[in-house]
Amino acid sequence: MNLDDISTIGVVGAGQMGAGIAQVAAVNGYDVILRDLKDEHVQRGLENIEGSLSRFVKKDAMSDEEAKEALGRIEATTDVEAFGDADIVVEAIIEDEAAKVGLFEDLDRVTGEGVILASNTSSIPITKLGAPTSRPENVIGMHFFNPVPLMKLVEVIRGHDTSDETTRTVLALAEALGKTPVEVHDFPGFASNRILMPMLNEAMFALHEGVGDAEAIDTVMKLGMNHPMGPLELADFIGLDTCLHILEVLQEGFGDPKYRPCPLLRQKVDAGHLGKKTGNGFYVWEGGKAQHPA
Ligand code: CAA
Repeated sequence: MNLDDISTIGVVGAGQMGAGIAQVAAVNGYDVILRDLKDEHVQRGLENIEGSLSRFVKKDAMSDEEAKEALGRIEATTDVEAFGDADIVVEAIIEDEAAKVGLFEDLDRVTGEGVILASNTSSIPITKLGAPTSRPENVIGMHFFNPVPLMKLVEVIRGHDTSDETTRTVLALAEALGKTPVEVHDFPGFASNRILMPMLNEAMFALHEGVGDAEAIDTVMKLGMNHPMGPLELADFIGLDTCLHILEVLQEGFGDPKYRPCPLLRQKVDAGHLGKKTGNGFYVWEGGKAQHPA
């Protein structure tokens, strides 16, 4: 499968990441099949896409017409069989290995021969997703960053058996979506989260040990290191359950206690305070913004 063979992109999962990927694909002229398990989830994803497109229209980065056309290219569905028409599928469902493996088996069954199956996973080994399929050479990581319409990076992860052709096509597709791809190998946390998560975790330990309050720690990193968000705000933005899951993957994958998740993170996840998406984490969130420390 080459870039020129791709006109329809399947996206599984209409959450924050899936909706963002569908939006970027549609804006760049691709037909999109966007699937989630329940109709209300797909509809919420479409509303988020509409909201994001309207922000581009508002600042004249896109015309109203272009936004409408992009939206019109997205077909919403709850049916996995719909991916029979896709030339590539990008999976962006929950970070649950069993759920992803099951989905890749379904995608392997319903998609045409040679169709690339890409995962937006932030830490689950691509090799484990490819192995149970009949096409591990066509399975690859395509890791986008939140908010997808704004962030330039796509981390492209080669599994153990991913072919050169699949890698070339996905690198080219990322560029066709206006992104900058970076190729990495399949080791725990890839490059991005292997580096990012220990920093976020360390900020949580600093808070836990009373080095400073949440605003002090975040201000140090924003003003001292020029980060757009402090690490505690960013952890909330990503989702504390996702951060905990990635740290556990790093700890298990490397067998190294330096990745042990901060007890404060575990406690927040146990309490259901997952950050921006639940309105409460290290900060209280309202209107999509961190308002004050929790
Ligand atoms: N769609 C369209 N436009 C959007 C948008 C969206 N989803 N989100 C923000 N914007 C626009 C706003 O409209 C605004 O536009 P103007 O400047 O023209 O007014 C602009 O972006 C800036 O937004 P805000 O003023 O609301 O806030 P900000 O200046 O703090 O920027 C941010 C927001 C871009 C998210 C910035 O804070 C940032 O870059 N934060 C760090 C994000 C990051 O590190 N993401 C990676 C997380 S890790 C990950 O995703 C992967 C993983 O595996 C865990």
